[in-house]
Amino acid sequence: MENKHILLGITGSIAAYKACSIVSTLTKKGYAVDIILTRHASAFIGSLSLAAISHRDVFVDEFDGTHESLIPHIELARRADLCVIAPADANILAKAAHGIADDLLSSCLLACTCPMLAAPAMNVHMFENAATQANISTLKSRGWSFVDPESGMLACAEVGKGRLADPEVIVAAIEARLEEEEKKKTQDLPLSGKRVLVSAGPTQEALDPVRFLSNHSSGKQGFAIAKAARALGADVTLAAGPVSLETPEGVERINYVSARDLEAVMKENAPKADFVIMAAAVADYRFAEQFDQKMKKSGDSMTFTLVRNPDILEGLGKVKRDDQVLCGFAMETENLEQNARKKMLSKNCDLLVANNLRTEGAGFQGDTNIVTLMTPETNTHLGLQSKEELGKTILLTMLEIQKGKTSHASVH
Ligand code: C5P
Repeated sequence: MENKHILLGITGSIAAYKACSIVSTLTKKGYAVDIILTRHASAFIGSLSLAAISHRDVFVDEFDGTHESLIPHIELARRADLCVIAPADANILAKAAHGIADDLLSSCLLACTCPMLAAPAMNVHMFENAATQANISTLKSRGWSFVDPESGMLACAEVGKGRLADPEVIVAAIEARLEEEEKKKTQDLPLSGKRVLVSAGPTQEALDPVRFLSNHSSGKQGFAIAKAARALGADVTLAAGPVSLETPEGVERINYVSARDLEAVMKENAPKADFVIMAAAVADYRFAEQFDQKMKKSGDSMTFTLVRNPDILEGLGKVKRDDQVLCGFAMETENLEQNARKKMLSKNCDLLVANNLRTEGAGFQGDTNIVTLMTPETNTHLGLQSKEELGKTILLTMLEIQKGKTSHASVH
């Protein structure tokens, strides 16, 4: 959510000053807040304060030509993930309900295709007026969300409903609406409702606080699978090794360092997952002894004993649910298919992605891969493709495998 753009319209109400608190909270949470002040709002609150809090230009009222863009209302509308009006006075609700576009904010509202949320604030009689209520109904019927004003002593010394809702309540409503929209986006996708657990990257097996045993895995293939799974609508948990890749948007990331850390993460999260994908390059061995202090040089050679790490994939294969789909990876330098097939069967995988380290365009570090997808019954050779495309293919194959399992189960 943090990368989302929120367009905040502030209109002419004494409650305009409370918008500072809304902007401050949203900015601290990492949202980019574009602000439009109407001319009347700018009588209540300075654009400089808002620019300082939001770290962005603030747009005031008319198309005054002072901004870089000649058509700011279109640009602001286009990049908004959510448009919020807080406080929303009776005038902006009326203009929005009737499609009037006579200043920057009202023009922008017409140009917005994103979801809308308004927090009205005004005198109790203005709020209760049939015209205002009709405008609110119209806007609600078009999908606008509202944060109702609170009752209490109003600035005009009257008591009644019309006080702007608490900024915290407004921020909570903003986040709830964004989340709802995010859910809607993923509702009709192939993996909606599915939970995907994917591991990615190398493991590091420490010798002492300075040295470790590891491998060249970049984590790119696993991260690409996580990204593709999210794009296909799944809830994704990514067990990420010590790599400096950015977490794909909307993906839950759990970092691990050693094979045993990763085993703990997988054991805890696999029972909830529909698809489990072990793309991590796990060290088969770790040092028998780990030292608390840096080891000093001594003699011309050193000998270390390595002990076996748990085979995580094998462990997952043993406790696999009937409706769960398990995918492993195999990287070999020789006899790829033979070894990979053996691995798939011995580890009780439903799918195995076999890639040959020696093939150009495949394997560690790069952005592309060339693999063979193996199931117990089939062998599918795939040509050169991006790791993300391959991620999608793997996931859709797993979906088919799961469909097969569940339809098979319902026959018996
Ligand atoms: O047997 P091999 O290490 O080649 O198997 C590779 C597959 O097994 C990968 O999916 C890898 O993530 C997984 N693996 C594992 N635990 C290990 C070694 C490998 O889960 N200790």
